[in-house]
Amino acid sequence: MRRPIIAGNWKMYKTIADALELANGLKRELYAIKGVDIVIAPGFTLLDEISDVISGSNINLGAQNAHWEAEGAFTGEASVAQLKELDVKYIIIGHSERRQFFGETNEGVNKRIKAVLSGGLIPIMCVGENLSQREKGNTFSVVQDHLRGGLEGIEKEEAKDIIFAYEPVWAIGTGKTATPAEAQEVHGFIRKKLAEIYDNDTAQSMRIQYGGSVKPDNIEDLIKQEDIDGALVGGASLKVDSFSEIVKKSVG
Ligand code: PGA
Repeated sequence: MRRPIIAGNWKMYKTIADALELANGLKRELYAIKGVDIVIAPGFTLLDEISDVISGSNINLGAQNAHWEAEGAFTGEASVAQLKELDVKYIIIGHSERRQFFGETNEGVNKRIKAVLSGGLIPIMCVGENLSQREKGNTFSVVQDHLRGGLEGIEKEEAKDIIFAYEPVWAIGTGKTATPAEAQEVHGFIRKKLAEIYDNDTAQSMRIQYGGSVKPDNIEDLIKQEDIDGALVGGASLKVDSFSEIVKKSVG
């Protein structure tokens, strides 16, 4: 049985006071919840304070990106070591907003994932097609490219801890969710590809989140799907009520 994992991607929202309120609220609402991995990924400037708030709780700290080099002249980036120092455990890599607005490529994703793994942290690797790719019938080839490119040269032993997030770009922040059946179809495809790249046992043990307008009222139908092991939540992770409800519903 794969343990569900629900992650909140706070994107570029919240200043410190609001972020502290949200994190404290989540801690209060979720302290008794078991059987699910809970992650929140605030922006870089918030990590230090939020880390203190959730320390020792069942909520884990995530970051939204990390550079592949250990250090250097890379303005605007953060290294794995810098994030580790703040007790970050998970790092989102290759989010579609990074690919779309900041020129992130499969090659960059691959280098970042390798750096996260060698730092002993867990990457959440995002894959997914945009609307025109879906309309042209290219969903599977795009997802396959993201997987093969992002995982290039990463051996099974290291890869087994990677969390995958299938996020159809047309469903992010739009209020449009892929139907549970549409999502399951791609999740099943991802697991099949992972079995080809690694092996069936490894693929069966890997967790694949769905992301794109996940809300309290659709999480149950999504998480019931055979190959959906959790969610990467944007908008609905910014409020105590909606994120807590999603977490609670993911464990039934
Ligand atoms: P959304 O974002 O839930 O607001 O659609 C999901 C994501 O971008 O990870």
